[in-house]
Amino acid sequence: MPDCTFFTTAIDYTNAAPHIGHAYEKVLTDVFARFEKLSGRSVYFLTGVDQHGQKVQQSAEKEGLSPLEFAQQCTTKFLSLWQQLGVHYDGWAATTDPLHKQAVQRILQQLFASGKLYKQAHRGFYSVRQEQFLTDKERTETGEFGPEWGEVVELEEENWYFRLSEYKDWLLGFIDGHEHFVTPSFRRVELRNAVEKLSGDLCISRPKNRLSWGIELPFDTGFVTYVWFDALINYVSFAGYLADPDSGLPRFETLWPAKAHVIGKDILIPAHGVYWPIMLHAIGFPDDQIPNLLVHGWWNISGAKMSKSTGNVIDPAALAAHYGVTALRYYLMADISTGKDADFSEERLRMRFNDELANNVGNLLNRTLNMAHRYRAGVLRKIASPDPDLAQLAHRDAPNAVVTYTDAMAHYQVDAALDAAIQLARACNQLIESSAPWKLAKDPAQAERLDAVLYHLAEAIRIVAILLNPVLPDASLSILAQLSVDTTPSLHDAVWGRLEDGHVLGLPVPLFPRLEPPPAAAD
Ligand code: ME8
Ligand code: MG
Repeated sequence: MPDCTFFTTAIDYTNAAPHIGHAYEKVLTDVFARFEKLSGRSVYFLTGVDQHGQKVQQSAEKEGLSPLEFAQQCTTKFLSLWQQLGVHYDGWAATTDPLHKQAVQRILQQLFASGKLYKQAHRGFYSVRQEQFLTDKERTETGEFGPEWGEVVELEEENWYFRLSEYKDWLLGFIDGHEHFVTPSFRRVELRNAVEKLSGDLCISRPKNRLSWGIELPFDTGFVTYVWFDALINYVSFAGYLADPDSGLPRFETLWPAKAHVIGKDILIPAHGVYWPIMLHAIGFPDDQIPNLLVHGWWNISGAKMSKSTGNVIDPAALAAHYGVTALRYYLMADISTGKDADFSEERLRMRFNDELANNVGNLLNRTLNMAHRYRAGVLRKIASPDPDLAQLAHRDAPNAVVTYTDAMAHYQVDAALDAAIQLARACNQLIESSAPWKLAKDPAQAERLDAVLYHLAEAIRIVAILLNPVLPDASLSILAQLSVDTTPSLHDAVWGRLEDGHVLGLPVPLFPRLEPPPAAAD
């Protein structure tokens, strides 16, 4: 039974190809999960793909494919990207899975039987792109529907509605009583303000004559389920909710509630912040079984939203192929503060990698191993030196880095956590400069100090490698292997003094080759 679970979004199939924002969200969740493991806790991590809906049906038609064929093509691209980027999830949620369909239908049937759904005719303006009816609230000052809604058509339709507005007061009370429901807290305020204005119920069906690519309503087969209602349920269906005992799915009570749903800022209101808690409450989940939401920001390009139409979508697979997975994961975790937006820049990717990994961590490792082999045949003497510079590294810098790191990670602040590791490596490089081991090596009276310096450097690097593990698992293992440390990385080992007297270090292997800009595109 895992100690904690992270669920992140099922990516939309109209994206057709994954972009840097998707890569960020999945790597971020992967880092949270790896941090839990590093801390000795077992984890379950669920992610997947959101395959139904009008936009998928339309994109498939455009390409002359069936919706299922189109969906399968997209899945391949996502699966190979997560493999390339080292995103290790435990459960894969593909919403065309029959087990998911069964859970959605069981939930719908239960809501129907308990009178929480009703059928009604509605005439109004409908956004094809957003798959929703629009109200006057969506009109601009000039009375039009803005371009974000795409094509808007007037329709009259009967549909099924979920009694969302009956739960408004419950949701307000829930938000007020659960300070950790939404992180960061400014998003919780935004959500609360939006819930205050909530009116009307949620249309949860689409007539089959308009949309056939979805999950049929079990009690009225002329309709399929609204894609958000279907997609949100992935978080419980793939965790085994209402599944048959022989389904092969996990046992729900072992995975629920998720420690966090990791989502982007655009899908907090209304999907994850309004529909989802109300759906869970209406199905019968008690308040303490409603999961918390971690809302991350967006990567923009020169301050503007990435979009297919302006052609400024960044392909993470191409970046990883060119610069390496280590560089891409590092950049995506170091150059944005969780909850805020950031501007994507390939130049900053190169600069941060070169400055913080190549010239700092890589250089430190290389110099330390080389000196240890040159002066001491790679053998360490475990010496607790009273020298103030060494004592400071062992008793202040290293333990402080671990505390800062752990606290930042516990608050999902991966950039601050990384910074703690990088600063510790910088302190070591400064120690090399100030202690000048090459001078100590020439003076027999300084033999003990030289041993102490080398031991302190190796110990600090070992701790840096452990701290880097969730973000840079490959590099972390490579550093530890070069130090000849073969235990599984663990935060419990990020304490001073684990390298024993007589420990023999391995040989240096170049780890972070400096990144150069790609050759200028030929005209
Ligand atoms: O919304 N930067 O899927 P999606 C960072 N299928 N994150 C970004 C981003 C960017 N530029 N662009 C998108 C959906 N995202 C639904 C989810 S879950 C039951 C259903 C994030 O493919 C976005 O915020 O449009 C979201 O969390 C995720 O990518 C998937 O977006
Ligand atoms: Mg979306």
